Amino acid sequence: MEERKGFKSTFGFLMAAVGSAVGLGNIWGFPNKMGSNGGFAFLLVYIILAVLCGYIVMVGELAIGRKTGKSAIATYQTLSRKFKWLGWLATLSPFLILSFYCALGGYCIKYMVLNVGNLFGAEFGTNGLSGGAVFEAFMLNQTEGVVFGIIFLLLTMLIVMGGVAGGIEKFCSVGMPALAVMLVVIIIRSCTLPGAVEGLKFMFMPNFEPLKENFLGVLATAGGQMFFSLSLGMGVMITYGSYLDKKKDIAKNALVIICFDTLVALMAGLAVLPAAFALDPEGKIGGPSLLFVTLQNVFDNMGTIGAVFGIIFYLLVILAAVSSSISLLEVIVTHFCDKAAAKGKGDKRKAYSVIAALAASVLMVLVCLDGLGYSGYWVPGRVLVDGAWQYTAMYNDCWLDFFDMLSEGIMMPLGALLMCLMIGYEIGPDVVRDEIERNEGHKMKSYGFFKICVRFITPLLMAMVLIGQIKDFFL
Ligand code: PFF
Repeated sequence: MEERKGFKSTFGFLMAAVGSAVGLGNIWGFPNKMGSNGGFAFLLVYIILAVLCGYIVMVGELAIGRKTGKSAIATYQTLSRKFKWLGWLATLSPFLILSFYCALGGYCIKYMVLNVGNLFGAEFGTNGLSGGAVFEAFMLNQTEGVVFGIIFLLLTMLIVMGGVAGGIEKFCSVGMPALAVMLVVIIIRSCTLPGAVEGLKFMFMPNFEPLKENFLGVLATAGGQMFFSLSLGMGVMITYGSYLDKKKDIAKNALVIICFDTLVALMAGLAVLPAAFALDPEGKIGGPSLLFVTLQNVFDNMGTIGAVFGIIFYLLVILAAVSSSISLLEVIVTHFCDKAAAKGKGDKRKAYSVIAALAASVLMVLVCLDGLGYSGYWVPGRVLVDGAWQYTAMYNDCWLDFFDMLSEGIMMPLGALLMCLMIGYEIGPDVVRDEIERNEGHKMKSYGFFKICVRFITPLLMAMVLIGQIKDFFL
């Protein structure tokens, strides 16, 4: 059997795990959700959830992955009788997320090219059109949407083909520090614009009203955001854990990943919102519109230098998105590579990377063709009754929202909840402790806390998040 090659250094592992966590979710999800759900109050709820759920699930996933040294599917099959099938759920979610993640990644490449066009006054720039007009034309141009989506997916595939150390670790070890530098450049520009303070107020002003009015709603939003942002409940951390050296301290690494991810989310807020409030106060601050309409208006309103900031900004978003999408593809590729190696078929990584990318491209093309609903395609939840469209509670505006709802809203919290039940009640929390303490000197100081959380607190909170999400989507 081929030897399984893992991460070469702690730094490389951390960059890859932080790279998976830091992505589109941090850049347009977090700042806007924080602003609309109570500002600083939301941040407190988020941090509490990150400690009581995020940390517990992250430690659990990394530990069971490293213990078995196998893919998510094989990990659950090895460890559990009752939750044998859970690995399939943890592999299906990345597949769904890849579909819209690569489509959005493609949009970022398009916008970087657009700003290059603006810098040189080329035809492929905005040509004096507003951010909204450019975006609408792009959404209606289905060929362009598909082409950019495919470019992004190819990039993801090529890195995964290079392997865990040769592709993922190498890319993230350079990409993540570069992203941090670019983010600081954009923050300085954004926060020094006249009127920037309004954006800071929007994001950070404590407002307990949303908590009082709809506590479950805020909890569900913070919980969904946390799972998505930390790449939890879906096989990524199990897979990365399986490539982690037995000598590394899992509990410490989990904490570092969570702290960095939250820090980058806050930094992204400082980069994006002050500029948006200063230069496009009428602009939308939620969803893809923030990234592709409001911010493009911001760069256009900065004059010629705006194109330079535009290029830096979209490049940093591409880095963040690629380092996340490679982790998604890796979950699928690892499973098939391990199976092939066990059967003595040798290293099939390259072939499986191509096959997995091809499979992911099917749903991605659908999301690109749909163009955030601009195409008017049929979407689940919309039914034709007597020649007129009726919208059921399950309706989403577009395929992207539908796949997001299924994965982020339901499959991730459900996957993490069931994993906690497996650790808490079937295999026992001491399995995690033993894995962490397998090296002398690594004492799991948080074991008491972990044990109580994994059995009672985390499942309870996750069930509340799940109920809140389902209520939001279906009722
Ligand atoms: N954490 C990424 C983000 O915040 O954009 C998205 C993501 C990557 C979610 C990997 C889930 C995952 F497994």
